[in-house]
Amino acid sequence: MRQRPPATVDAATAGAPADEGIRLARLRKIFEGRGAPLLALEDVSIATRRGAFTSIIGPSGCGKSTILRMLADLDAPTFGTVTAHGKTPRELRRASKLGIVFQEPALLPWRTVRSNIELAVQVTGLAVPARTCDDLIALVGLDGFERTRPAELSGGMRQRVAIARALVTSPEVLLLDEPFGALDEMTRRRLNLELLRIWSEQAATTLLVTHSIEEAAFLSDTVVVMSPRPGRILAEVEVDFPRPRKEALLRTPSFHALTDRLSELLAGGGDDDRG
Ligand SMILES: Nc1ncnc2c1ncn2[C@@H]1O[C@H](COP(=O)(O)OP(=O)(O)O)[C@@H](O)[C@H]1O
Ligand SMILES: [Mg+2]
Repeated sequence: MRQRPPATVDAATAGAPADEGIRLARLRKIFEGRGAPLLALEDVSIATRRGAFTSIIGPSGCGKSTILRMLADLDAPTFGTVTAHGKTPRELRRASKLGIVFQEPALLPWRTVRSNIELAVQVTGLAVPARTCDDLIALVGLDGFERTRPAELSGGMRQRVAIARALVTSPEVLLLDEPFGALDEMTRRRLNLELLRIWSEQAATTLLVTHSIEEAAFLSDTVVVMSPRPGRILAEVEVDFPRPRKEALLRTPSFHALTDRLSELLAGGGDDDRG
């Protein structure tokens, strides 16, 4: 007679299908501060495929960064479960399977480009990076800048260093929180093209948080649209433009139709855009 395994916390991660990517199940997040408790997320469920590129768009304050922080093991849900590739964020972090890029690249100013990237490997205690720093520096287009310090780089170049640093441990899961949000539109478009190229070579399950509808539509397999706070999922839109995607896609009628639809979905959730 078959017996059921005992119900433990591991039940959340046991027997995950092989193609399971990021899985958020019925997440609720309440911040208990000095004032009244703040309901940041309510009943958020997302399931992505392994290797898929998913974006979350939504107004400021709807809980996008909170979702990423929970996946990065920097915060925990009040209710619900968070897994990626069948593992908890803690398991992924401990196994150095997470790559994270925030809006501010937070590079060490006294270290060169190369040693900022190397540091990410050193802190994990991993012996040999699956991909060498030189390969990565080339991949993000910083050949010749190996020994440059962050202060001498443009904002876009610093963000490339942060991307290389996030990739150096060959993460299974890549988390990007408005990585190009502080850059001008042209630089952002260029880096989006680069990000697509890098992602196609590095097959990581990716979750991008952005406030740019165009960026989300251009990069993603799926765009998740969130409501104003408390953040809820308003829609999940599949994006089936073939890959590799080229910049010309941005000027096609079908691309504009998609961004219009995403704008409408966002507006349908209310027009609250307060921070
Ligand atoms: N540590 C925290 N303590 C209290 N409130 C927080 C904390 N972190 C975020 N919040 C609040 O939770 C809501 C969602 O924040 P956030 O996830 O940063 O939104 P977004 O990234 O979509 O702009 C906001 O109202 C924010 O002020
Ligand atoms: Mg945020």
